[in-house]
Amino acid sequence: MNILVTGSNGQLGTALQKVLPQLVNARLFFVDHSQLDITDSDTLGRFIANNDISHIVNCAAYTNVDGAEEDKAACMAVNAEGVKTLALAADNYGAKIIHISTDFVFDGHAYLPYKESDKVNPLSHYGASKRSGETALLALAPESIIIRTSWLYSPDTDRNFVGKILKAATRGDKLKVVSDQIGSPTNAYDLARAIAKILVTPQWFPGVFHYCNAGICSRYDFAKAILYLVGMNNEVTPVSTDTNFLNSTVAARPYFSALDTSKIRLTYGVDTPNWFDSLNQCIQNF
Ligand SMILES: NC(=O)c1ccc[n+]([C@@H]2O[C@H](COP(=O)([O-])OP(=O)(O)OC[C@H]3O[C@@H](n4cnc5c(N)ncnc54)[C@H](OP(=O)(O)O)[C@@H]3O)[C@@H](O)[C@H]2O)c1
Repeated sequence: MNILVTGSNGQLGTALQKVLPQLVNARLFFVDHSQLDITDSDTLGRFIANNDISHIVNCAAYTNVDGAEEDKAACMAVNAEGVKTLALAADNYGAKIIHISTDFVFDGHAYLPYKESDKVNPLSHYGASKRSGETALLALAPESIIIRTSWLYSPDTDRNFVGKILKAATRGDKLKVVSDQIGSPTNAYDLARAIAKILVTPQWFPGVFHYCNAGICSRYDFAKAILYLVGMNNEVTPVSTDTNFLNSTVAARPYFSALDTSKIRLTYGVDTPNWFDSLNQCIQNF
C-alpha cells in the first residue's frame, strides 16, 4: 500500500503524520499545499503515477467558513474543483480515496443526529462547496469513502475553537459563546485513528460515513469544558447565534449538526470516544 496524504500540514494532516506511521504498514507520502496542489491535475497525476499511489487521504481543503462568503471562487476552486480533479486522477490511476467532508452540508433543522442518508441542504458557501466535492467524488470515483466530521480540533494548532477559547481566556477576555449551536466536537487524533483503522481493514466499503466524538453539546458547553479542564474560571456568557448575524460577513451555521456515527462504527469497528474525554486528552497535549 502506498498512501498519499494531501494537505498534510493542516490539523487533521498533522494528526495523521503522527498516527499513521504507528498503525499502518505502508509507504506514506505526506504532502502539503506547497508540495502538491490538488487543483493541479498534471502534477497530481504525475505524483500518483510516479509513486504508485494506491490510496489517497484528502485533507486538503479551503476551511475558512466565514472567508468563503467573501471569496466564493477560492473556496469552490479547492473544495469542489480540486476534489473533482482528485477524483478524476484517482480513477485514472486506480487509487482509492478517503475524503473528509463536513456537518455543514446539513441545514441543522433536525432533532436527531444526522444519518448519512439524511437530506443535505448547506447554509453557507463553504458547506455548498464541500457538498459539491462530495457529489463529484460519488459520480467520478464511486469507490471513494467520504467521512463527514464536525467541530474538528487538535492540540497542534490554536486555529480551532479550543485554541481560540484558550487564547481569549489567557488574555483575560470576558467570553461570549453561542449556546444555540449544538453538535459534537471531534479530536483530530480520534479521526486519524479511525482513518488508520479503515486503511488496515482488509475489505473496502465505499460510501458516505459520519465520524465525530460521542455525545452532544453546545458551543457554550464546549467552551465551559475547555476552561474547566485547564482550571480557568473566566466569565462565559451564553449568546444566541442571532447576535453573530449582526456581523454580515459571518456565514450561516447549522443550529444542530450532531452526526449519527453508527454506520462507521458497525462497518469498520472504529472507536468514537466521548467528546469530554477526548477534549481532556487534547488539553493535556496543548
Ligand atoms: N476544522 C473543522 O472544524 C472541520 C469540521 C468539519 C470538517 N472539516 C473538514 O476536515 C478536513 C480537514 O480540516 P482541517 O481542520 O485539518 O483543515 P486545515 O487545518 O485548514 O487544513 C487544510 C489543509 O489543506 C491545505 N490546502 C488548501 N488548499 C489546498 C490545495 N489546493 N491543495 C493542497 N492543499 C491545500 C492547507 O494548506 P494552506 O493552509 O497552506 O493553504 C492546509 O494545510 C477538511 O476537509 C475540512 O473541510 C473540518
